[in-house]
Amino acid sequence: GKVAVLFGGDSAEREVSLMSGAGVLGALRASGVDAHGFDPAERSLLALKDEGFDRAFIALHGRHGEDGTVQGALELLRIPYTGSGVMASAIAMDKITTKRVWVAEGLPTPRWVSLKSQDLQRERVRTVPDELGLPLFVKPPHEGSSMGASKVMGYSDMQDAVQLAARFDTEVLCEEFIDGQELTCAVLGEGDAALALPVIEIRAEQGNYDYQNKYFTDTTQYLIGQLPADQQAQIQALVLKAYRSLGCRGWGRADLMLRKSDGQAFLLEMNTSPGMTSHSLVPKAAAAVGVSYEQLCLWLLAQATL
Ligand code: DAL
Ligand code: MG
Repeated sequence: GKVAVLFGGDSAEREVSLMSGAGVLGALRASGVDAHGFDPAERSLLALKDEGFDRAFIALHGRHGEDGTVQGALELLRIPYTGSGVMASAIAMDKITTKRVWVAEGLPTPRWVSLKSQDLQRERVRTVPDELGLPLFVKPPHEGSSMGASKVMGYSDMQDAVQLAARFDTEVLCEEFIDGQELTCAVLGEGDAALALPVIEIRAEQGNYDYQNKYFTDTTQYLIGQLPADQQAQIQALVLKAYRSLGCRGWGRADLMLRKSDGQAFLLEMNTSPGMTSHSLVPKAAAAVGVSYEQLCLWLLAQATL
């Protein structure tokens, strides 16, 4: 039957989604799937039903795509879709709620302070570094691809960082900085059958894996298979617990920090609609175990469900 590859959308990550979607659409077509691009920012999802689509591959990122809203619409239209359902998508899109679940499950995540709009006055913002130390990270909790995120080095940077994040969200996440190595680990499947792909260590220029270094530079290094086997296995086990605790299915990718001082891993977030661009991480992890980009797309599509 006809497959809709949903991409574009109206989130701040639209540009990334256009790249992911072009990749997925090309791969599915090359594999003989009757796939068509569909941008929910341009046309109502209701058209999917009228036009006879019987499955959807979600290559949207961020709000109105990765956050449970599109998933809910597809549930109502009875069109099976790739990736997590409504609840896991909604939880994972909110970094603060995600951290609360992980803390409740006893899983390690950096300490944080969340600032609501009434906490955004200068005096309250100033006290955050006293609680979390410096440097620290300031992030809008419902964004991806480092949108609106800042690394704060000193008290004087706090106000600007909070104001930037507040442009994207009504709530602002301030998070303890973990000094160490940035890692990511993808998961495929659901529940007990879920499996973790190899862990990737990310080495960006100046340790700054920002929007530019995520998608547009070719100097970011991705190391696979460099960690000691037991350490990688521990991280994979942690990521599987993190994935299951949120009720994810299909696929996902956890981002973590590995603390330099003692090798402790900390969970930062779970991405339920990971990037599929030419620079993205899940395709690299899949390739490391012999799964091509095309095979990955076909497998994800085959898992599409309601
Ligand atoms: N939010 C981007 C798309 C990612 O995590 O890959
Ligand atoms: Mg993210």
